[in-house]
Amino acid sequence: MIYPIVKFGNPVLEKPSETVTVFDEELKKLTEDMFESMYAAHGVGLAAPQIGIGRRIAVIDVTFKEDPDGKLILINPEIIHTEGRHTQSEGCLSIPDFRENVTRPNKVTIRAQDVHGKVYDKTAEELLARAFLHETDHLNGKLYISHISALKRDLMKRKIRKMMKAGEW
Ligand code: NI
Repeated sequence: MIYPIVKFGNPVLEKPSETVTVFDEELKKLTEDMFESMYAAHGVGLAAPQIGIGRRIAVIDVTFKEDPDGKLILINPEIIHTEGRHTQSEGCLSIPDFRENVTRPNKVTIRAQDVHGKVYDKTAEELLARAFLHETDHLNGKLYISHISALKRDLMKRKIRKMMKAGEW
């Protein structure tokens, strides 16, 4: 099932998500639907609040179907280590048609659970590290625009409000 993507302005995107405690078939199906929804939207990462579900679940595939091992499921993820700094243009499926440079750590280790509840650690650099940070932020009710200057953020919000009024958002 392909879920519609929730856009900026919906409060679900700015609320911390709830910890997942039940690892059952329903959860597995939800992660499959999340991959399907992410690919349909041409994204490389998707967090559950982006489909209106406030649970600590995210899916990532920075290879966009190139590598089956690239499909990652992050349940209850936590950033446990960061190193360095890296600036790159970043976007979000929930804020379509906008991109901004965001400086984040370059090397990141997450601790998360898989779909069976098994805890794993994974270290990544560059784009995958950025995806770990971006998606974990989502689960904490935080959007990438919180990492840009207030000036740029206000400008973006003004443009979005205009689009909302015009029925284009
Ligand atoms: Ni996003």
